[in-house]
Order: sequence, then C-alpha cells, then structure tokens
Amino acid sequence: MRLLFLGDVVGRSGRKAVVDGLPRLIERWKLDFVVVNGENSAGGFGITESIFQELVDAGADVVTLGNHAFDQRETLVYIERHDRLLRPVNYPKGTPGKGAGVFRARNGADVLVTQAMGRVFMPELDCPFRALEAEVTACPLGSGADVILVDFHAEATSEKQAVGVFLDGRVSCVVGTHTHVPTADDRVLKGGTAYMTDAGMCGDYESIVGMDAEEPVNRFLTRIPRGRFEPASRPATLSGLAVDIDDATGLAAARWRQTSRYSGLNETWKKAPRVDPTPVGPAVIGLERRYSRRPDSRARRATCASRRMRLVFSDDLMIAPQR
Ligand SMILES: [Fe+2]
Ligand SMILES: [Fe+2]
Repeated sequence: MRLLFLGDVVGRSGRKAVVDGLPRLIERWKLDFVVVNGENSAGGFGITESIFQELVDAGADVVTLGNHAFDQRETLVYIERHDRLLRPVNYPKGTPGKGAGVFRARNGADVLVTQAMGRVFMPELDCPFRALEAEVTACPLGSGADVILVDFHAEATSEKQAVGVFLDGRVSCVVGTHTHVPTADDRVLKGGTAYMTDAGMCGDYESIVGMDAEEPVNRFLTRIPRGRFEPASRPATLSGLAVDIDDATGLAAARWRQTSRYSGLNETWKKAPRVDPTPVGPAVIGLERRYSRRPDSRARRATCASRRMRLVFSDDLMIAPQR
C-alpha cells in the first residue's frame, strides 16, 4: 500500500494547497491512506472543527496535532467527537482526545496512527518512548495492525532519530514534524522502518517557519512584541513523505520525499508530481552527475543553487535510491 504524510499545514495558504491539491494527489498517486498534521492550520495556531472537517473532506484519513493542539479552545470539546483527530499520546492523563487509533485504509489495511511529542526544548510531558512503546505493544505490526505510522512531534534531531531507531522494525514509518523545514534524510532504517527527521510544512516558505517574517525578526532583534504572528500568505508548498509499504511485512519498500510547489487556484497542479513505478534516483543523482562534470567554483555554486531550488520547489517527484 502507499501512504502519504503531509507536514504541518500553516494558515490559509497551507490549507488552500491541501484542499486544492490533495484530492488530485490521491488520484494520481493512487494513495491508500493520508495523514496530515494540522496543528497550525487555524491562523498558525491550532485547528478549528470546521478546518478539521475541511482537511478530512480533502482526503485526510487522520489529522495529527502537536504542541499547538489546544490553541483554539474549542478543540478541548470537539476533539472528543472526532476519532480521526489525534493529539500527542503522552499528554497528561485526563487530557481530552486521544493519541492513537486504528483506521481502515482504502485498500482494506488496518493502519495504527499515533503521535507523541518530544521533550527536548519542548513542554515536559510523559516519556514519549514509553508512551509509543505502549501503543506498539498493544497493537503490534502484523497481528494488531497491517501498517503503523508514527508522527513524532519534536524539536531536536537527536530525539527524533532516537525514536526512529527505537521503533525500527516494529513500525512502518516514523516521520518527524514541528520544525516546519523538510530534512533531506528520508531513508529506510536497518529494520525496515521508513524514517524522515522532519516532513516540513504545507505553507508559504518565504517566511519564518510559515509566519510573515517581520514580527519574528523584530522579536529576535528587540525582544519587544510589536504585533501578532501572522501566517505568510503567498502560495504554499506541499511538503511531506510518501511511503510504499510491503503488504506482506508492513515495513517500508520505498519512500519519496515530496516537496511540490502549489501554483495557484487556476493552475490546479498542471505540473503535479509524476509517479514512477520503479523508484530509482533520477532527480538528485542527475544533478550530482552534472555537478561532478563542472568542477569550477562558479558552476559549482550555480549547481548547488539549482539543486536547492529543485529540492524545495521541484515540481518533480523527488525520488531517493532504495536501501
Ligand atoms: Fe507546527
Ligand atoms: Fe509544533
């Protein structure tokens, strides 16, 4: 089966990209299951019930949250009505909502989705390792669920990598969220778990982590708030991770880091990513080859710049070599 995880949706711009783009992605990529992190979808802070519904209507099977889970006070109440909305599982006992659930994918597979929040440079919560261990033990890969996806919402790369290694071979995929910047380390770990430190965001990348740059820069400079943080409003880039799961084992067969520029309402994914049924590494490897043929420093700078553009704004499907 093929699943897609989309990183934190930020504000109206991110929502629009998901609502307009996801139905088409589901069709073109033949996606069986989609998880979207929605913790910043309401003006950058939390999620309302109507926005949650919007994401589900666009094709999200599950929406995960994070440290902004309850920024919109209404979430404390309506989260109880929606099984498909998950907050971190390691919140204190008694917190409204839940942090894990098993959901039926379009191909009939049972998918356990769970989210935990890290503790390094984050609020102190229960141990995320033990909380995730409990979920995976209660519903193991193979007997309890056909596929297990873990959204690990954390700041520190080391903590995210540690969760990946800790769960390697026991879950299908560990994908990081929260930093809003996609990392270039998507891979399949030794035990067969697909891993990426951070999926990035679905939002306007000409920003500071999705927010208009002016106020964040002002606060770093002066430490005095001059206004509110407002989500940046130019067209968003969808960013996330797609994974092919081996139906026999529930482990990863291949994965793609996906960052694709959303190009406006009327252009509805004219240049949408292509699906290559036999994943090898054309985009990145092609650029590396060009790089080695042109070793002078000017060409090297230009190639590096174009490579960066491809990584962030490519309309191609970014495909990395298999392990
Ligand atoms: Fe976020
Ligand atoms: Fe976050």
